[in-house]
Amino acid sequence: MGDQNEGVVLRRRPEGLLTHDDVELVDLPMPEPPDGGCVLKTAWLGIDATVRSWLSEGEGYFPAVEVGAVVRCSGIGTVVASASPKFPVGHVVSCLSGWQRYVALPDDGLATPLGPPESVDMLAMLAVYGATGLTAYVGMIDVGEVKEGDTVVVSAAAGATGSVAAQIAKIQGARVIGIAGTDEKCGWLTDGLGLDGTVNYRTDDVAARLKELCPKRIDVFFDNVGGSILDACLARLANGGRVVLCGAISSYNDEHRPPGPANYLNLIQRRASMRGFLSLDHWGRFPEVAAVLAGWVAEGKLQYRVEEFEGLESGVDALNAMFTGANTGKIVIRV
Ligand SMILES: NC(=O)c1ccc[n+]([C@@H]2O[C@H](COP(=O)([O-])OP(=O)(O)OC[C@H]3O[C@@H](n4cnc5c(N)ncnc54)[C@H](OP(=O)(O)O)[C@@H]3O)[C@@H](O)[C@H]2O)c1
Repeated sequence: MGDQNEGVVLRRRPEGLLTHDDVELVDLPMPEPPDGGCVLKTAWLGIDATVRSWLSEGEGYFPAVEVGAVVRCSGIGTVVASASPKFPVGHVVSCLSGWQRYVALPDDGLATPLGPPESVDMLAMLAVYGATGLTAYVGMIDVGEVKEGDTVVVSAAAGATGSVAAQIAKIQGARVIGIAGTDEKCGWLTDGLGLDGTVNYRTDDVAARLKELCPKRIDVFFDNVGGSILDACLARLANGGRVVLCGAISSYNDEHRPPGPANYLNLIQRRASMRGFLSLDHWGRFPEVAAVLAGWVAEGKLQYRVEEFEGLESGVDALNAMFTGANTGKIVIRV
C-alpha cells in the first residue's frame, strides 16, 4: 500500500467540548485484512453528534471508546486488501471506520459494500443515503407515522438528520416547522427547503412561537435536541401526538443529565406516545430506503448540504461544530 497508517486516539475522557488535548494523532501499524473482511483506505469520515457521546463513560448501544483507542466514527473509502469476495479490491465500502487512514474491517454487518467507485457518490452516501437518511426516514415514517395534513416539528432542523427528516415530512404532505439556532439557518429552512415556519430557539420565546405556528398543535415532534426544547414541544402536543426521540444533543456534552421533561404528563392528556429508536437496528433496510431517497433527490424534492473539513487533525473542530451549531447539513472530513 506504500503509505503510513495514522489515526486519532482518545487520550483522556473529555469534559464538555472535546479539546485538542483529549486526543492525539498517532502513527498506527498498517492493518491486515481479517478473515472474511478487508482493509479500507478511508476517503471521508461522516461526523455524527453521537461520536461525542461515545467518548464519555456510560452505558450506550456501543461501549464507550476506550482511552488509547481510535475515536469511533462512520466513514467511507475503498478496499485496498481483501480476504473476501464480498469486498473486492477497489470497491467502495461504508462502515464504522473510526478516525484513521486505514482500517481493518471485519464482516460485521455494518461494513456495507457499495460497488465500484464510479457508481458511488461518497459524499451523498454520508450526507443523505447512508445512516443519516436512514435515521431520518425510519424516524419520520416508521416511528413518527407522519401523514398528510399533520403538523410536524423538527428540532436541529438545519442539521444533517433534521434537514432530511423535515423534507421527508414535507414530501408526505405535512405542515412542517423547523427549530434552529440562527436566522440564517431558519432562512434556509423556509426559502431553501420549503418548510412552513421556523423557530429560532436562541432568540424566540419557543413556547409562544410554537403556539403561533402550530394552532392545531403538534402531531409529530422529531427531536434531535432534548432538554427544554423537548419540554416545550411536549406541552404543545395534539391528541394522539407522536414524539420521535432521535437524539438529545443538548445533553451529550454535560456530565449531568438534564432534569426530566416537566411536561411529560401531557402524554396522558393527549393520548400521545414518545418512542426512541436506533437506525442501527434498521441497517438491513438501507438499500430500500436509499433507493427511495435517491428517487426524491433526482426529482428535486430532497436537498442536502455538506460541510467539508480537511484532514484527520480537523476531527476535534468538526465534532465541536455540531455543538456550537456552526454546521448546516452534514459535516464530513476529507481524510
Ligand atoms: N437515533 C438514531 O439512530 C440516530 C442516528 C444518527 C443521529 N442521531 C441523533 O440525531 C441528532 C442530530 O445528529 P446529526 O449528526 O444529524 O447532527 P446535526 O443535526 O447535523 O448537528 C447538530 C445540530 O444540533 C444543534 N444543537 C447543538 N446543540 C444544541 C442545543 N444545546 N440545543 C439545541 N440545538 C442544538 C445545532 O444546530 P443549531 O444551530 O440549530 O443549534 C447543530 O447544528 C443527534 O441528537 C444525534 O445523536 C440519532
